[in-house]
Amino acid sequence: MQVEVAEYLSEQKKVIEKNLLTGIQALSSPDILKESMNYSLQAGGKRLRPMLLLATLRAFNKNEDLGIDVAVAIELIHTYSLVHDDLPSMDDDDLRRGNPTNHKVFGEAMAILAGDALLTYSFQLIADINHPSVSPEVKLLLISKLAQAAGPEGMVGGQVADIQSEGKTPSIETLEYIHKHKTGKLLAYSVIAGAILAGASDAQLSVLKEFAMHIGLAFQIRDDILDIEGSEDKIGKPIGSDEELDKMTYPALLTLSGAKEKLSFHITHAKFKLQQANINHDILEYICDLIATREN
Ligand code: IPE
Ligand code: IPE
Ligand code: MG
Ligand code: MG
Ligand code: MG
Repeated sequence: MQVEVAEYLSEQKKVIEKNLLTGIQALSSPDILKESMNYSLQAGGKRLRPMLLLATLRAFNKNEDLGIDVAVAIELIHTYSLVHDDLPSMDDDDLRRGNPTNHKVFGEAMAILAGDALLTYSFQLIADINHPSVSPEVKLLLISKLAQAAGPEGMVGGQVADIQSEGKTPSIETLEYIHKHKTGKLLAYSVIAGAILAGASDAQLSVLKEFAMHIGLAFQIRDDILDIEGSEDKIGKPIGSDEELDKMTYPALLTLSGAKEKLSFHITHAKFKLQQANINHDILEYICDLIATREN
């Protein structure tokens, strides 16, 4: 079973990567902009968010075709957020996914514009979905929820809180706000979008929201842990960046072992919620374990 799930996910990853490439190729835009967008999109990445969306569809016995455009749109937004996150005025990182960061290769102006383009194009992709089972109402709902997850009430809000927290005394409330928003909301959207496309009931949506919130938090706690004890070769970005910038993180507040306990708390609760959703939960459960144990 484990092997089959791993194979399924690696197949889906290929489909996502092919669609990312064709999505950028289709654009009539300046070559340098497409190059810069593609550079960060093709630089690797686990593709966890799009895989979560496709795996959610599968859990409802729906074909992955139904969600591929939204899955690509999420990865575009995620990649934009990383390009901007690495800028000198933000986290000032030189390495991402094992390669020099976008601004190191294309310069700051182009990195900012490539990020802007990835963000905007993601909404174009969803608005232009051409699938008989995706109604205009569903598209509108998907766009609205994506804007909420990625914008001021979601990821961007979390990034602001993250930056403002630098050098401040950590508190659990602020920390949860940061993690839930800067990372949790987009991860959660990946599950919710899949469930909306699959026609989930209100009861299923509500329990999947809780599932998604737990994996979103768990994902960022693991990110904080890896920033301390990860291997630079494996994660493809420098470690120790959080401490250097005096970031508010779970290990900073709870110690490394406290952070690990929190991680396992959220994974346990995520799995518990998943079992209540009344879907084929095998693949999503496997993804929970990937989140908890990932080394990159
Ligand atoms: C890294 O996200 C940034 C965070 C939101 C913590 P990922 O760990 O999903 O990055 P890639 O896409 O696999 O490189
Ligand atoms: C990034 O958080 C979150 C977003 C880009 C929204 P981090 O700053 O912790 O991510 P890494 O560690 O650089 O990947
Ligand atoms: Mg950051
Ligand atoms: Mg960063
Ligand atoms: Mg980090």
